[in-house]
Amino acid sequence: PPAAASPTPPMGWNPWNAFRTDVDEAKIRSSAEALVRTGLAAKGYRFVNIDDGWVLRRLADGRLQIRTSMFPSAATAPAATGSFRPFVGYIHRLGLKAGLYTDIGRNTCAQRWDNNKSPNHPIGSVAEREVGSYGHAAADMRTIFADWGFDYIKIDACGVADYGADSPVVRDGSYRAFPPLIRRGDVPGSDPAEVERLYADLGAAIRRWGGPNAVYSICDWGEADAAAWAPRHGNLWRTSPDIEFSWASMLANMDSALDGALYAGPGHWNDPDMLAIGHAPFDAAHLTEARAHFTMWAIMAAPLLLGFDLRHAPPALLDLVGNAEVIAVDQDAAGNQGVPYRSGATLAVVKRLAAPGARAVALLNRSDRPALARVDWRQLGLAPGSTARVRDLWARRDRTPARDAIALRLPPHGAALLRVTGRPAPGSDAYLDAMPARV
Ligand code: GLA
Repeated sequence: PPAAASPTPPMGWNPWNAFRTDVDEAKIRSSAEALVRTGLAAKGYRFVNIDDGWVLRRLADGRLQIRTSMFPSAATAPAATGSFRPFVGYIHRLGLKAGLYTDIGRNTCAQRWDNNKSPNHPIGSVAEREVGSYGHAAADMRTIFADWGFDYIKIDACGVADYGADSPVVRDGSYRAFPPLIRRGDVPGSDPAEVERLYADLGAAIRRWGGPNAVYSICDWGEADAAAWAPRHGNLWRTSPDIEFSWASMLANMDSALDGALYAGPGHWNDPDMLAIGHAPFDAAHLTEARAHFTMWAIMAAPLLLGFDLRHAPPALLDLVGNAEVIAVDQDAAGNQGVPYRSGATLAVVKRLAAPGARAVALLNRSDRPALARVDWRQLGLAPGSTARVRDLWARRDRTPARDAIALRLPPHGAALLRVTGRPAPGSDAYLDAMPARV
């Protein structure tokens, strides 16, 4: 896909982690306004993305009908379907960009799992419930980009597989009418090539109707070896299951993206999922953990999609996700994802090459005990004996290195993010030199 769509990782806000399907236009609009009011928009958080739950049904003629009880401004011509034009126009007038959600399969994830819990599931006959874009790739992308004017699309992968009898919608009988399209994961007969084909078809339709600037987010949870093919079609791809609000889940998602560092670059990014910041154990009462989470997403050049309720956001959290020097690491124009050169049970040390002679380095204490972390110039590819400036991006001050190295004491779950600028050792500014084998 063209790098123009996403030369640096997308930044913005998505309602899913805050509201699930209990979302509506008022919440989204006030969150968009909060992005502007708090100054986060000016710092790069530009995308306001609608997630699952917005489709009411698919009409007999194949068009998607918007749930206007959720999006009142969509109750406009054409009457049968409604239109997101007014909503998207509003977002654009705020100087922001708007995103929407669909699925490669016959239905969406919330349909699959939330039917019994959520008021926001598609209604009507079996055919009307086929709100995923399977068989409708071109028409849906035309509607979403050409008719409604969206800038970004996240495409999920729920409605393709047989999830078994434990799914609530399978249990209540409303789902059984859809046979699986593809059997995947550890199910025999899994077909990654077919998953890729569906995403490729949608990618072509997105380019056609959305143009070179449309952002395409592939939400395949890292199954079907997405990193191996997704960079050809999309601007970002999930590398893991959904983030949960736990330290272990954050680490697992982080590891999934660190694994594929060399797949990332301008226009195509690993996506370890949206930020869990704002939810315990990454809330204002756990700033150490929130900082560690944000540090690791920044060093990985991960998308920075906020998912907490901005209307009631504690200043400490706004300050944390608004740290301009940390954001600058994530958004570094070279687009080199951080590469781990140490990844053990206690410590992860990840370095990222930025402009010539500049490195960002993240040091993370994964454990529940304090730990000492150290990096030296050799590991950072800096000339031995040379002077380097070490800027601590969270402390917002310079640190004095000792004998070609910097050592830091990290509290449990603590992280530091440093920017080290110095004289590169010969040949060390090549991205591949960041690979662990070379250190
Ligand atoms: C999947 C995705 C999530 C979210 C939900 C919506 O689980 O991975 O990010 O979009 O679906 O149902």
